[in-house]
Amino acid sequence: MKTVLAYSGGLDTSVCIKWIQEKYDSEVITLTVDVGQKRNFKLIEERAKKLGVLKHYYIDAKEEFVLNYVFPAIKANAMYEGVYPLSSALSRPLIASKLVEIAEKEGASAVAHGCTGKGNDQVRFEVTIHALNPELKVIAPVREWNLNREDEVKYLKESGLDIEIEQGGVYSIDQNLWGRSIEGGVLEHPDVEPPEDIYEWTSPIEKTPQEPQYVKIGFSKGVPTQIDGESMKPVELIRELNVIAGRHGIGRIEHLEDRLVGIKSREVYECPAALVLLKAHKDLEKSILTRHELEFKSLVDDEWSRLVYFGLWMDPLKEDLEAFINSTQERVSGEVKLKLYKGNAVVVGRSSKNMLYDLNLATYGLESTFNQKASEGFIELWGLQTKLARKIASRELENV
Ligand code: ARG
Repeated sequence: MKTVLAYSGGLDTSVCIKWIQEKYDSEVITLTVDVGQKRNFKLIEERAKKLGVLKHYYIDAKEEFVLNYVFPAIKANAMYEGVYPLSSALSRPLIASKLVEIAEKEGASAVAHGCTGKGNDQVRFEVTIHALNPELKVIAPVREWNLNREDEVKYLKESGLDIEIEQGGVYSIDQNLWGRSIEGGVLEHPDVEPPEDIYEWTSPIEKTPQEPQYVKIGFSKGVPTQIDGESMKPVELIRELNVIAGRHGIGRIEHLEDRLVGIKSREVYECPAALVLLKAHKDLEKSILTRHELEFKSLVDDEWSRLVYFGLWMDPLKEDLEAFINSTQERVSGEVKLKLYKGNAVVVGRSSKNMLYDLNLATYGLESTFNQKASEGFIELWGLQTKLARKIASRELENV
């Protein structure tokens, strides 16, 4: 039997290798998918080999991640519960699809992941895997075992593997180009302020530059293509913006999140580029789409975000929603100027040849072309039913 394991190189998934080999009597093929997590991939490969894997795969999926997962999220203004840009959630269906790809290529009958039984990631992995290939068996060792960190280290040592596992210590960390998630340890106490040392991508406000920085983001059909007038490749653009915004302390998110399985959990994220791009995109879109489109789109956007958070990336509804979203994004091209300063990104201007903003209509100056006379009749019709309802209500009051 062969099993393909999604391998991060961390403690949990290292133990998974041994566990699958021993409990399932299976050969293990490890797969590390690069979604911009900036790890030492050479070291990860060496570690996997030390643990006796049959084969190790590294797949650079950064560009695919941005083009097919992050960009659709930008078009959908994707935020779960209004604050979380879905950074981890977006990477799961991509990693799952690579697991299936390698399993099929290698003739493996099972795939495995290192998720616990308490989170969303197990759902995202497994629904995607089974939507792509219902024949594949899924092994979730961490969900099956009852090991804590000490037991895990001991178990690895007993297997003759005294490998050094560098980790964020007590924290569970997941990162990719769209953001960094930090869970566990003292963060599990929602009344305690997150300690400064959990942050890596963002400066504390006390240490951010004293001068604001302006940045102009260019969009083409709903996706970012330029910073300050310079065309950039998708991956580079997001990388660059993580650095620029992170320097100004932008991107920290802290909230109590409703997981799919019902648990409320304290989540902390760093998503500098995501917060800036989502803010800019939403602003540009607002200047271009009609208010009718915007009102309807916000329902569609919310549904898209929920679907992705809840692990249903493969549900046809996502594509149905995207058909609408993409149609609206055809016109969303232009530029947004933001001011970055002391933890905030504030939009200070925007321009687009498709804007519905019309100076001649909006101006209070003499050059106005808006026909103010038309408002009179408009108001009469607009308030017609309201006036009638009030009139009837007061008449009824008189009769009692
Ligand atoms: N709560 C977030 C989510 O469900 C982050 C999950 C992070 N995953 C992890 N294995 N640390 O999307």
